[in-house]
Amino acid sequence: MSDSQGKDLATVEHGEAPLYPLPPHRPRTTDTDPRAARRAQRQVATQFALSAVLTVGFFVAYWVVPVDQTVELGPFGVWSLSNLLLGLTLGGAILLIGTGAIHWAKKLMSDEEIVDERHPLGSPEEDRAAAKEMFDTGLAESGFAERKIVRRSLIGALLLFPLPFIAFLRDMGPMPGTSLRNTIWKKGTRIVVDVSGQPLRPEDLQVGTLVSASPEGLDEIQEEEGTQNARAKASIILVRMSPDEIRSDQSPEGETWAYEGILAYSKICTHVGCPIALYQRRTHHLLCPCHQSTFDLADSGNVVFGPAARRMPQLPITVDDEGYLVAQSDFTQPVGPSFWERG
Ligand code: FES
Repeated sequence: MSDSQGKDLATVEHGEAPLYPLPPHRPRTTDTDPRAARRAQRQVATQFALSAVLTVGFFVAYWVVPVDQTVELGPFGVWSLSNLLLGLTLGGAILLIGTGAIHWAKKLMSDEEIVDERHPLGSPEEDRAAAKEMFDTGLAESGFAERKIVRRSLIGALLLFPLPFIAFLRDMGPMPGTSLRNTIWKKGTRIVVDVSGQPLRPEDLQVGTLVSASPEGLDEIQEEEGTQNARAKASIILVRMSPDEIRSDQSPEGETWAYEGILAYSKICTHVGCPIALYQRRTHHLLCPCHQSTFDLADSGNVVFGPAARRMPQLPITVDDEGYLVAQSDFTQPVGPSFWERG
C-alpha cells in the first residue's frame, strides 16, 4: 500500500531505519467491491433515518400519551407509559446516530495509514554552539568568574534566602498537646441555649430539632480565662429524635448517654475543626459545610462520608432534680480536629 506520494508505508524510513514499521494494509470489502460499499451506505443511511423516525416518535409520545397513564411490565412492575416511551424513543435515536456514525467510519471512510514524519527534536549543532557562545560571553562580561568576592557573597545570600520561609513553619504550631482533651463540661453542668443562655428542659425540644448549646456560666468563665477557647471547645449541638431511631450511642454497654431521644455532640468537626450545624432530620446526618464530612448522629456520630477520620465526640447527658438537661461528665474523648498526634 502506498500513500499519495507513492511511498511504501510499511517501509517508510526515518533516516536509515524504519521507525514504526506498519503491517501491510489490507483493503476492506467495501474498498474493492462497489456493491458492498453501496450496501454499507444503505445500512448507515437506514440507521440515521430510523433515528429521525424515533425523534419524531419522541414528540408524538410527548404530546399524545397522558402523563398519568401506566403500563404493567410483568416482573419489572408498573411504569409510566409516557416516561417509558420518551426514554425509549430518545435513547434509541441517540443510539442509532452513534451506531450509524461508527458503521460509516469503519466501512466507508478512508482507512489508509499515514505516517507523519517529524524532524529530530534536538537543536542543530550550530544552534547549540551559538547558545554556548552567548552563555560564555555573558559569563565573561558579568565578571562572575573573576570577581570572587562578588560571586561568593551572592552564593551566601542565596543560601540564606530560604531560611525565613522555614521560620514561617513555626506558625503551624504549637501542637495542641492536651489542650483539647478537656473542656469546661463537668458532671451537673446545665445545658443552655447558645447566646440566650436559657436552660433547657427535655420538653423544650421537639423531635427533629437541632439546637446549638453551651454550658451554663460560660460568660464568667470566659472573663476569667480572657479567651474564646473555652466557648469554642465546649460548643455542642442537641438533637432530638425518637428513642427507637437511635441505633447506638457512645456510652459503655448497657448504659445510655442520650436522654429520652436527646443526644448531645460536640459542634466542632473532627476533620479540621469547622463548626457544624447542618442537620438532616430524615436521615439524622450531620453535614460539615467545609469539606462535606457527614456524621450519623443516630449511630454514635460515626463518619459516613468525607475526610473526617473519627466520629463526633458525644457529651453524656441526663436531667437534674429540677428537670433541666445537664452533662453527666466532660467529653470522654478530645474534641476538635484529629490532624495532630492524639496518642
Ligand atoms: S472541617 Fe469538617 S469536613 Fe473538613
